[in-house]
Amino acid sequence: MAPKIVLTADRPTGHLHLGHYIGSLKNRVDLQESYNCFVMIADIQALSDNFDNPEKVRDNVTEVCKDYLSVGIDPEKSTILIQSLIPELFELTTYFLNLVSVSRLERNPTVKAELMQKSFADSIPAGFLTYPASQAADITAFKAELVPVGEDQLPHLELTNEIVRKFNRTYKTNSLHECQAILGKVKRLIGIDGKAKASKSLNNAIFLSDSSDVLKQKIYSMYTDPDHIKVSDPGKVEGNVVFAYLDAFYDDKSELESLKKQYQHGGLGDMVLKSLLNDTLQKLLKPIREKRESISDAEVMDILINGSKRAREIAKQTISEVRNAIGLTY
Ligand code: TRP
Repeated sequence: MAPKIVLTADRPTGHLHLGHYIGSLKNRVDLQESYNCFVMIADIQALSDNFDNPEKVRDNVTEVCKDYLSVGIDPEKSTILIQSLIPELFELTTYFLNLVSVSRLERNPTVKAELMQKSFADSIPAGFLTYPASQAADITAFKAELVPVGEDQLPHLELTNEIVRKFNRTYKTNSLHECQAILGKVKRLIGIDGKAKASKSLNNAIFLSDSSDVLKQKIYSMYTDPDHIKVSDPGKVEGNVVFAYLDAFYDDKSELESLKKQYQHGGLGDMVLKSLLNDTLQKLLKPIREKRESISDAEVMDILINGSKRAREIAKQTISEVRNAIGLTY
């Protein structure tokens, strides 16, 4: 049996950080061993809320691809592609837009939450409201069966499957397949300032590409327990960013448990913990940073162009089935 098809994607709006690594990238490196993986850089989707800043999107296509390669996503095993190099996706999006109502798009909780954060005021770009239909095209064009995502993407996958069913029913075909989400086991990585989520826009993330000095400085600025003033004071583990990161990245869990006990009891200083975290993350990120620095822009482009070509062949095949089903055969 052919290996299952897996699609993952990112909007290229900034460098990837440790939250991406623990929540998704590490998993992709494992998945590529046993699945047929497509890794898409969704530049068109990124434009839907950055249409006035195309340079940012363009620059980050290369940066995100470097992040992929530096953590071990292997272009021999995974197909890495740029969304805008697959025009078939836009054609498919157009057909899909007929199969979904405006009110259905307006009900999407993820889109609603995003709209609250952005300042579109009363003029929501149609492209933004409809990006989930374009995401449905991303998924179905490659016949992806499994889509590893965070919870916020579930409404989009639900919509995708609704569109697939409606398409197949309307055009009496079975050429499109429903997909299944794979939800990551890892919870969100907290920001270094103790805010709920590490994110580029909140400026509270550790990037995979951070230099050793920046990494150290970020770790030493981490929020711990404001009431833990003297080493001998008992400290809180809950909400303590250093422990949250040790939980995510420090392998010796039993040692970590005893450090937590000691901290709660009193007698363990923040500096000792920060130094342990610094050693841990420096060790993790050094080879990633070195790999990143060894890859040239030209190499990255080569990989992206080749991957996109390969991916396009598959999308073309799907579009030909879709056109046949609709009856657009001239
Ligand atoms: N919406 C996803 C995000 O913001 C990116 C994305 C675009 C995607 N196309 C996709 C995710 C297809 C899964 C499948 O991260």
